[in-house]
Amino acid sequence: MKVCIVGASGKLGRYMVQHCLDRGYDVACVCRPESVAKLDDFKDRISIFPAMTDDRNVIAKAVAGCDSVLTVLVPWGMKKYASRTAQAVLDLAPPDARLVFSCGWHISHDGKDVYSWQFKTLVAVFGFVGRLFRIVDLNDQVEACRRIFQSNTRWTVVRGSDLEEGPSQGLPVWSAHVGDPILASNLTRRIDFALFMVEALTDDALVRKAPAIVGCETESAKTYAAVASS
Ligand SMILES: NC(=O)c1ccc[n+]([C@@H]2O[C@H](COP(=O)([O-])OP(=O)(O)OC[C@H]3O[C@@H](n4cnc5c(N)ncnc54)[C@H](OP(=O)(O)O)[C@@H]3O)[C@@H](O)[C@H]2O)c1
Repeated sequence: MKVCIVGASGKLGRYMVQHCLDRGYDVACVCRPESVAKLDDFKDRISIFPAMTDDRNVIAKAVAGCDSVLTVLVPWGMKKYASRTAQAVLDLAPPDARLVFSCGWHISHDGKDVYSWQFKTLVAVFGFVGRLFRIVDLNDQVEACRRIFQSNTRWTVVRGSDLEEGPSQGLPVWSAHVGDPILASNLTRRIDFALFMVEALTDDALVRKAPAIVGCETESAKTYAAVASS
């Protein structure tokens, strides 16, 4: 399998590179030119395309011939970085390619997610401050996902909970809607978020779905599993 990882040099991206190499995949990486050195550990085993991830010329070259594309969607700046990145991947990846995108729980696919007031407050404050200082535009990540959801591609949008570092606990569990009891613990190891992204490439049951994930060893995941098996 040939996989392109768009945004490969970040924390999530590097975990995805490792998971893909562990599976013997042929890996092409797109990352900002100033971040190429962050991929040094892998440099003999991957091809690197240094560029901003919304650079359509570079995305076209990087995704050529790929079976799958993993994209880290980040709403940095006020220049539509997330939606331009998503649009480039949607437009330029081979038509049958499996496309998997990352985002957070704040994205809703069908409007049926139920958010706590604490979560809504956090998103509102983060969104306001991000826009005020022109650092982050959360609305653009929403727009990126709107375009993905409307596309006819073979997409999956993986919605991450709060993240922590640490060794892998295994494949996260998921649910279609934030607010479902299984997700209550709201914590996933970043390495396992990456694992879910990579496993999604070969899981056709996730095509055109937006799973919200949580760590499989969290209290809510284990409680739900116990309830389901009793
Ligand atoms: N952090 C969380 O708690 C959290 C929770 C839920 C979901 N998520 C989702 O998880 C994904 C990755 O999040 P992460 O927190 O783990 O971050 P990450 O993996 O470190 O990724 C950050 C990405 O943003 C890029 N980046 C950083 N500064 C930039 C700038 N000024 N302009 C353009 N690109 C820039 C990084 O590229 P360089 O390597 O070039 O810096 C990297 O590709 C995102 O889709 C996010 O929505 C995160």
